[in-house]
Amino acid sequence: MLAGEKVRLRSLEREDLPKIWQWSNDEEVMYYWGMPGFSISLAEIEHRFSRTLDARDATRKWFIIETLDKKPIGRMMYFNLDRRHHHAEIAIQIGEKEYWGQGYGTEATMLFLDYLFNELGLHRVYLYTQDYNPRAYRSYEKCGFVKEGVVRHRYFVNGQYHDGFLMGILRHEFNHKFKGRHGEG
Ligand SMILES: CC(C)(COP(=O)(O)OP(=O)(O)OC[C@H]1O[C@@H](n2cnc3c(N)ncnc32)[C@H](O)[C@@H]1OP(=O)(O)O)[C@@H](O)C(=O)NCCC(=O)NCCS
Repeated sequence: MLAGEKVRLRSLEREDLPKIWQWSNDEEVMYYWGMPGFSISLAEIEHRFSRTLDARDATRKWFIIETLDKKPIGRMMYFNLDRRHHHAEIAIQIGEKEYWGQGYGTEATMLFLDYLFNELGLHRVYLYTQDYNPRAYRSYEKCGFVKEGVVRHRYFVNGQYHDGFLMGILRHEFNHKFKGRHGEG
């Protein structure tokens, strides 16, 4: 359990799947997730999440973002975990839209980075966002991510190709900026 001032992160449980299903069928949420028009049944969600719930896939893990009074508002994951090179990709989705733009997502990402760097021992964390998602871009910037590249036409959304921005952060950058630690720490 990772707790901040607005949110905490906890492991995904089977009981969370109806919420994941609800968010996965929300047109606006999925637009910013890069998948507008996505539609999925609860049974398919249960099937897809069974590997992560049974911890069969060690390269990925889902977390639930909840308010301090335990209301689930979104989800967060690491995937493509590379233990040899000490890096992983992450993704975040605040599925309860009334919580957008109030700092919940940024705090969740900060908690997650602290966990990934200082408990899991990763050296680098990266993600992709869309060129039409300035709120996400700004949130990641606030967490210390820097733009490392443009992946041209990574997304085909509503009939148009959109570029992806690759953003990354290294452990010492995070710890230096937010934990007051210097050196490789
Ligand atoms: C992306 C997401 C995690 C960000 O979390 P959040 O809690 O909404 O973000 P925050 O409130 O912490 O920060 C948003 C920042 O973007 C800024 N912002 C919002 N809309 C913006 C816009 N159109 N242009 C520029 N900046 C914008 C806000 O002003 C704020 O920056 P500030 O604190 O400097 O003022 C969340 O909005 C979300 O899950 N959205 C839907 C799914 C999604 O986009 N996932 C990411 C896919 S890559």
